[in-house]
Amino acid sequence: MTAEIISGKQTAKEWRARLKVEADELKSKGVVPCLTVIMVGDDPASLSYIKGKIKGCAEVGLRSELKRFPASMQEAELLEVIEQCNADEEIDGILVQLPLPPHISEQKVIETIRPDKDVDGFHPINIGRMVAGEEALISCTPQGIIQLLKAKDIAIEGKHAVVVGRSNIVGKPVGLLLLKENATVTYCHSKTPDLSTFTRTADILIVAAGRAGLIGADDVKEGAAVIDVGVNRTEDGRLVGDVRFEEVKEKAAYLTPVPGGVGPMTITMLLANTIKAAKKRRGLL
Ligand code: GUN
Repeated sequence: MTAEIISGKQTAKEWRARLKVEADELKSKGVVPCLTVIMVGDDPASLSYIKGKIKGCAEVGLRSELKRFPASMQEAELLEVIEQCNADEEIDGILVQLPLPPHISEQKVIETIRPDKDVDGFHPINIGRMVAGEEALISCTPQGIIQLLKAKDIAIEGKHAVVVGRSNIVGKPVGLLLLKENATVTYCHSKTPDLSTFTRTADILIVAAGRAGLIGADDVKEGAAVIDVGVNRTEDGRLVGDVRFEEVKEKAAYLTPVPGGVGPMTITMLLANTIKAAKKRRGLL
């Protein structure tokens, strides 16, 4: 079997066109949602991700601002900046780019952001609501993965979904969202013995381990839908996923490429969350 390659770029483009319509409608009511991105330090990869987010805002007609601070910034200063953004009526979404320098507690930072402006969906209130299956701001990569599966009409209900990776940003939440869609979910991680025994039984395989080339054709069931969330840079500077693309494409029914798979959907869900936060705060949702 040769897999259909799921273009996140194409699905993201369709989503952004719809989000632009929503943003235009809001604009006619005098509301232009604003995303504030906070960057501490000058990590080039973080800056590149942030540029993508800011470009995405412009594309659908949202306002954005980037607040940049040196890596030497103290935790208390950052928490103060977040409090100011929390109180600023002009700001609908707050995103603090991770990772932060080691002297700043990421958890403290996340917990300082107002839950209704937490467009990353990382605040314990949003995570708790998601676990309970309630309305919440949901983190962008997991949401993007679900929307990619839906855009391709890939059945989730009753299927066996295997998630490789248990990070708070991707692995844990995507498993919960798949469960909400009535999949049977198995979590695997770095301490799972004989990973392949599990991955070979997956109808839907989500790989978010952060290990280049972890999953090959022998680890995948014929006809599976394989979503590669890995972003790894090779020694010669190329971006590669956690899945050995060329091998797995001959066995899976669906496969996402890296780059151009999950990545564009992550940013698109951030834009969707910013619009949602703006509407909700104004009682328009
Ligand atoms: N760093 C890598 N991914 C993310 C993300 O989704 N949100 C934030 N805030 N930082 C990140």
